[in-house]
Amino acid sequence: MYISEKVKKISPSSTLAIDAKFKEMKAQGIDVVGFGAGEPDFDTPDFIKQAAIKAIQDGKTKYTPAAGTMELRTAICEKLKRENGLDYAPNQIIVSNGAKHSLVNAFMAILNPGDEVIIPAPFWVSYPEMVKIADGVPVIIETKEEDEFKFTKEQFEDAITPKTRALVLNSPSNPTGMVYTEDELLAIADVAVKHNIYVIADEIYEHLIYDGKRVSIASFNDKIKDLTIIINGVSKTYAMTGWRIGYTASHADIAKVMANLQSHATSNPNSIAQAATIAALNGDGSEIAMMKAEFEKRKNYMVERINSINGVSCRMPQGAFYVMMNISKLKGKTLGGKLIETSDDLANVLLEKAKLALVPGSGFGADDFMRWSYATSMENIKEGLDRLEKFLSE
Ligand SMILES: Cc1ncc(COP(=O)(O)O)c(C=O)c1O
Repeated sequence: MYISEKVKKISPSSTLAIDAKFKEMKAQGIDVVGFGAGEPDFDTPDFIKQAAIKAIQDGKTKYTPAAGTMELRTAICEKLKRENGLDYAPNQIIVSNGAKHSLVNAFMAILNPGDEVIIPAPFWVSYPEMVKIADGVPVIIETKEEDEFKFTKEQFEDAITPKTRALVLNSPSNPTGMVYTEDELLAIADVAVKHNIYVIADEIYEHLIYDGKRVSIASFNDKIKDLTIIINGVSKTYAMTGWRIGYTASHADIAKVMANLQSHATSNPNSIAQAATIAALNGDGSEIAMMKAEFEKRKNYMVERINSINGVSCRMPQGAFYVMMNISKLKGKTLGGKLIETSDDLANVLLEKAKLALVPGSGFGADDFMRWSYATSMENIKEGLDRLEKFLSE
C-alpha cells in the first residue's frame, strides 16, 4: 500500500492504546482496573448540558464562523481577563475541536520544514508527533525526578540552535503533575524573548493546581505575550472530554493563519458544544471546586500508598491528575515469569497478571516510570493499588 513517508513516522498514542486494550478486556468480561485515560470520571455538570439542549432547541445547529462564534470568543477573552489578567481581542482567539486540534494548528502555523521545537521530557505523548505532523523536529531535553521534573534556564539555552522555533511549556504537566513557579516562568520567558522563540503554553490543567499559584507566562510583558500561543480547553476542567472544544490565544497574525487552516480542514467546531462552552466558562466555579477537592483527596491517598509499596516510589504532584511512579528498582527483576527490562514489559505483565492497566513511561520519554491517572473513583484507586501491592509482594 502506498503510504506517505511523513505519516508512517507518526506513532500511535500510547495512552489511547492502553485505554483501548483495557476497554477491550472489560468488554470481554475480564475484571480489569484501568488508569490509562486522562479523563475525569465526573459527568459534565448539568447546567452545561442544559445550555447544549437549549442551543439545539434554539436552532444553533448551523455552521458558525470557522474560528468559533463571536459570542464564545468574547466569553474566552473575558475568561482570560478575569482569571489570567490577560487582554486579548476575539480576533486573537481560535476555537477548535479540542486542545489537541489547537496544538496541531499552532505547530502548523509557526513551523517550516526542519524547524526545531524544544520539548522537555517527560512530555505528554502527543507533542513530538504533532511537531512531526507539522514537518518540525522535536528536540527533547531531559529533566530529573530529583529536580521535580523541571528543566533549567541553562538547559533551555543549551538546546537552542539557529533552527529553534518554539518551546513546549506544559504547566501543570501531564504526565508529572509538576507546576512551574512564577520565578521559573520569568526565567523561561527571558530566554524565549532573548532568542525570539515561541512558547506553546499548554495550560489545559490550570484549574487543577493543588500547591502553587496559577500564572500564565503570557502575563509578564508584551514581548513574551506576542511570542506565546496559549492552549486551553474545557475537556479537563469541566469534565467535557467528549464535547471536543479547545482554544488558542495568540498574536492576531498567528490566529489569522490558524483560522485559514481550520476553515479548510474542519470548518467550525460543533456549534452546540460551542454554546455549551459559553455556559461552562461563565459558570460560578462550584463544580470545578468540587472536582478539584475530590482529585486532591485521591492524589494524597495514591501517593501515600505508592510510597508504602516496596520497589516503587513517587513524588507528590502539584497539579493535573497524574502520578509518575518510579519503577527503576523493578528493572532487571523477573516478575510474573517475565524479565522486566522496560516500562512496556511491566505494563504488559501488570495487565496480564494483575489485571491492572497503567501507562508505560516509554511514550512520555521516561522509561523509568509508569503513569497513574487519579481521574477515576477512589474505589478503583484502592483496588488498583491493592493489585499492585499484591503482585509485587508475590
Ligand atoms: C497536556 C494536554 N494537552 C492537551 C490535551 C488535549 O485535550 P483535548 O483535546 O481533550 O482538549 C490533553 C489531553 O489529554 C493533555 O493532557
